[in-house]
Amino acid sequence: MSDTAAEACPVRQPRLFPLERTGCPLDPAPEYAELREKEPVPWVKLRFNGREAWLLTRYDDVRQMLKDPRFSSDMADPGYPLQFHFPMELLGKVKPALLHMDPPAHTAHRMMLMPELSVKRVEAMRPRTQEIVDGCVDAMLEHGGPVDLVSMLSMPVPSLAMCELVGVPVEYVDLFHRWVTLLVTQGSAEEHASANAEVEVLLYKLIAERQENPGDDLISSLLQRNEKEGELEPADISALVRAMIAAGHESTVNGISIGSLALLHHPEQADWLREHPEMSGQAVDELSRYSSISDHGTVRVALEDVEIGGQLIRKGEGVICSLSAANHDPAVFEEPNKLDLTRRESRRNVAFGFGRHQCAGQMLVRMQLEVVFTTLLRRIPTLRLDAELDELPFKAKALIDGLHELPVTW
Ligand code: HEM
Repeated sequence: MSDTAAEACPVRQPRLFPLERTGCPLDPAPEYAELREKEPVPWVKLRFNGREAWLLTRYDDVRQMLKDPRFSSDMADPGYPLQFHFPMELLGKVKPALLHMDPPAHTAHRMMLMPELSVKRVEAMRPRTQEIVDGCVDAMLEHGGPVDLVSMLSMPVPSLAMCELVGVPVEYVDLFHRWVTLLVTQGSAEEHASANAEVEVLLYKLIAERQENPGDDLISSLLQRNEKEGELEPADISALVRAMIAAGHESTVNGISIGSLALLHHPEQADWLREHPEMSGQAVDELSRYSSISDHGTVRVALEDVEIGGQLIRKGEGVICSLSAANHDPAVFEEPNKLDLTRRESRRNVAFGFGRHQCAGQMLVRMQLEVVFTTLLRRIPTLRLDAELDELPFKAKALIDGLHELPVTW
């Protein structure tokens, strides 16, 4: 489209975003389907802070934008569609998280982190993950139904796994949990700043300890690799660890809760997975696509004028990807609102993003979800929901979809 055509566009009437989610709480907002067809790149206004941005709803447009170097992840840019509180006075003082960096710094930092989360490293963690999940299922069985699956499984599995991976003593789990919850549920700026400061102090303490006494954990390993081949400062290491915990903990908690709910709401799919545990990788791909729990946290700002999906996006304007709309695009996924664990094209989903910021922990979380779902279905074959779907306490106003509680019984 030429500049003239773009300028001739009618006055923008922003829609409030996120869109209302009516109907089945496991389905995406119904308006996405209409937009994808008739107005794939609408102009939206964030309910959170009134910032305005373009919304991408088509699979191809989302992927095109995410691989385009003309878009930045710099949250300090005034056009960046920020969706959580960040004490702006800290910008420039606190090192940015990986998610908010651009190349070349992003490339250098990501290269330091990725060996820790490689397929080989993740596979080595599988037996311990199995032990952790078995321990949680033992506790559920010992307690007897009904139980809350969130507090007995979704929370402890990623908490213990993350603490062991990073080398954070288990007693600090609550602090991390409070901090991350504030980030993704849009807590107040004051709450955020105070939790942020506590986390920063703890990470510096741990880094200093591991410099003296290296252990078998990610902080020690990052420090050692950095000594040999990197140029990161302790503040950069702290930012990398912070980024991992921020991006990884709450999302995995919610991935376990929503994925379990999707299986329990579709008992025939749960039966299929119980009979085909060897297909758990494909099942996790489909559950990730279907639930797309991180719908609109993937955002960028344009560094120059770019056209996407027939829409001219001006330099300085923000863009929000709806990963859920992309993952329900019928051009790629037939009958997209249907959960079908046998679907082969599920592996094309963008639930973990795409391009240079694609989820660094995706191998880890996919392995954890495989272990959780197959173990749960095998060890408690009669597991079922102990509430109606529309009575469940979904996390409202959250950046990542999740549940406060998930009552189950057997
Ligand atoms: C169900 C669980 C998870 C989901 C749905 C998820 C989703 C995502 C998405 C969509 C992105 C891309 C954001 C963007 O492009 O702006 C991302 C980035 C990231 N994720 Fe995850 N994630 C999950 C779990 C994890 C875990 C367990 C870890 C760490 C162990 C992790 C670490 C990261 C990091 C460090 C980034 C930033 C990568 C970069 O900027 O280069 N995530 N995640």
